Amino acid sequence: MLEKAKRRLQPSARSAVPPFMVMDVMAAAARLEAQGRRVIHMEVGQPAVGAPATALAAARAALSAGPLGYTETLGIASLRRRIAKAYGEWHGLDIDPARIVVTTGSSGGFVLAFLAAFEAGDRVAVALPGYPPYRHILTALGCQPVCIETTAQTRWSITSEALIAAHRAQPLKGLIVASPANPTGTMMTASALADLIRCAGDAGIVVISDEIYHGLDYAFAAETAARLTDDAVIINSFSKYFCMTGWRIGWMVVPPSLVRAVERLQGNLAISVPTLSQIAAEAAFDAREELTRVKHGYEENRRILLEGLPRAGLDSFLPVDGAFYLYADVSRFSTDSFAFATRMLAEAGVAATPGVDFDPVRGQHFLRLCYAGSREEMHEAVQRIGAWLAGDRTPA
Ligand SMILES: Cc1ncc(COP(=O)(O)O)c(C=O)c1O
Repeated sequence: MLEKAKRRLQPSARSAVPPFMVMDVMAAAARLEAQGRRVIHMEVGQPAVGAPATALAAARAALSAGPLGYTETLGIASLRRRIAKAYGEWHGLDIDPARIVVTTGSSGGFVLAFLAAFEAGDRVAVALPGYPPYRHILTALGCQPVCIETTAQTRWSITSEALIAAHRAQPLKGLIVASPANPTGTMMTASALADLIRCAGDAGIVVISDEIYHGLDYAFAAETAARLTDDAVIINSFSKYFCMTGWRIGWMVVPPSLVRAVERLQGNLAISVPTLSQIAAEAAFDAREELTRVKHGYEENRRILLEGLPRAGLDSFLPVDGAFYLYADVSRFSTDSFAFATRMLAEAGVAATPGVDFDPVRGQHFLRLCYAGSREEMHEAVQRIGAWLAGDRTPA
């Protein structure tokens, strides 16, 4: 009987996706903090500040106003209109609100987009290094992620040549692009993105453009796939620029031909997105000044790291164009980024994410540092890393 029950409780093969190693780093950091040590957190990719004041005020008012029922499956109409309007403000584009779908973070958007655009077995190109859930969600849904290694020569992005080479080897159905990207913070130039999208379109490859870090660009302006084609699925979120990670809300701009499919899927999977979060998100668009201040803080943090880390001994990183990440090459010190991150945490008190989370092979040589914390923390991190690399192994 027990044997039979055990057999029944086996997890499915499709659920066997790898965990996020950063969670292990976070758990180790929490153990150190429980012992009274102060840790500088540069491992988690989220803003240190919370939702803007306008969003909080709207949420409080909504809580007092009455019951929060379900909303329309595609999202509250006024929020969808407000998101569409933002494309006019940010990019000078006229997007039909009927193409906007409100989602439970961009994470919820991926599930909907992959289910709506791909069949089980379809091959979808992703960049390495890259955000691991792209690969893992595709795998869990029965699709096949096809990893394309990027290099400094291609500015750490998939090029049309690399895409076509992979497509010729075995046909691709989809391509995921992200600019700015995670873990690198590197961006594609507008012309590189246009070239890639044109090439994908010609080959019949569906483009999913993850634009979650839009608004957080420092080197040059991020281009949206929405300007280049109506056929891409654009995924975005209130998590990063709007500082609302825990509210679990994002959006998609979908090709007109996919709207109804996405509506059917979301209606079945979630009914609708949390109402309180939708109300708060709409009000977050009125927080431009507050959010601009937060962005300036990241810019200052980026400057502190770009100036300070080379002096501290970490002098090789990928182009630090946007988002709030710096992807540092630590191969001078270690060829095991998890061990390096573990030691840096224990001895310098600075938590960072090992690159193996993002690139199973070359990631052994890299660490991702998130600079969404305070200016003081950035200065202290540079000082601690410098002392540690110089040989001071006294725990900070
Ligand atoms: C590139 C990228 N896409 C998507 C997400 C998921 O974000 P959310 O579901 O909070 O919108 C993240 C989170 O870190 C990310 O870095």
